[in-house]
Amino acid sequence: MAHLVTLIPGDGIGPEVSEAARLVLDAADVGIEWIERSAGATALGLHGELMPAETLDAIRSSRVALKGPITTPVGGGFRSVNVTLRQDLDLFAAVRPARALPGVPIRHRSVDLVVVRENTEDLYAGIEFERGSPEAAALRDELRSLGGYELREDAGFSVKPISVSGTRRIVRFAFEYARANGRKKITLGHKANVMRYSDGLFLETAELESRGFPDVDWQDIQIDHLTSRLAKDPSRFDILLLPNLYGDIISDLCAGLVGGLGLIPGANIGWEYAVFEAVHGSAPDIAGHGTANPIAMILSGAMLLRHVGEQAAAENVEWAVDQVLSRGVVRTPDLGGSSTTMQVGEEVATQVTAWEHGPS
Ligand code: NAI
Ligand code: MG
Repeated sequence: MAHLVTLIPGDGIGPEVSEAARLVLDAADVGIEWIERSAGATALGLHGELMPAETLDAIRSSRVALKGPITTPVGGGFRSVNVTLRQDLDLFAAVRPARALPGVPIRHRSVDLVVVRENTEDLYAGIEFERGSPEAAALRDELRSLGGYELREDAGFSVKPISVSGTRRIVRFAFEYARANGRKKITLGHKANVMRYSDGLFLETAELESRGFPDVDWQDIQIDHLTSRLAKDPSRFDILLLPNLYGDIISDLCAGLVGGLGLIPGANIGWEYAVFEAVHGSAPDIAGHGTANPIAMILSGAMLLRHVGEQAAAENVEWAVDQVLSRGVVRTPDLGGSSTTMQVGEEVATQVTAWEHGPS
């Protein structure tokens, strides 16, 4: 049966790494039927908006998408494409595995982490009041009358909402992910001692939900303490369950632990839809040179394959990436090589085909 997949090449290095990923997924030969749609700067030129309705409609019909990075235009008052996607499709869980890859030197003995990040709430909910605006003044008045808080006139505000229902679903998601992927331990990062009603509620809700999953170990840790522990010995951690903001920061920390942004795949998952994309951005500094590392995008494609039930094909692609990296001959400049994006794509695709004869 064919799999319908929406492909959004995106901006900057997006089209380059997307082409390489498409080549690899086609080599996996599971009958993907691509619907190509635009978003970002390309879409702005064609449709006058960053996220055209026809692109969202395509994702709704295919249910899964592989997406390149989007350049966020500075100024102009556009709603961020990633925020639009997460909100309109309710992609509440971001999943970002960071594992040490063969042939890529790391500072630690072993790293095999998965960040599970809440994607819709917290300080990234987009509820902001600009310094000096009438809304900020009204909010200051309200806070004074509610709790006697005296806030400076020149303050701006970003609101941090965290709900029981929003937390419950991400906690269940993390525990179910652990079970489905044979992972043993979840570590929840928070600052509940300072932010009792947001992070505190996240922690309390997780404690309750975790009782339904006695087979999965879990612990909580203060977020600042987590950063130093991760830098020191990441092998002690497995799944990291985090509210939105901490999840964003810790994902990049984990990317650094395993050799950089060119390697880390990701998924944004909701009950109905899922959008797979690398953690990296559109890299304007190297765009157009054909030297971007496509591996993060290719591994995002492997996550997509697993999501649509093509377990063997997903393993095939991951194995092929490992082959190419461990040989160390074909690699892009970020990994010290001099190959092009497409040479890496072609080499991984060749290895994918070789898998038919079994792993060597
Ligand atoms: P970036 O991830 O694009 O680049 C950071 C650094 O990593 C650059 O030096 C870049 O050359 C390098 N890099 C990134 N991906 C690479 C790859 N595949 N191979 C080799 N080197 C790679 O982050 P930056 O510069 O902060 O953002 C650039 C643009 O991307 C911005 O407009 C930002 O808003 C957007 N962005 C979009 C995301 C998305 O659509 N999911 C995620 C992050 C940023
Ligand atoms: Mg980020």
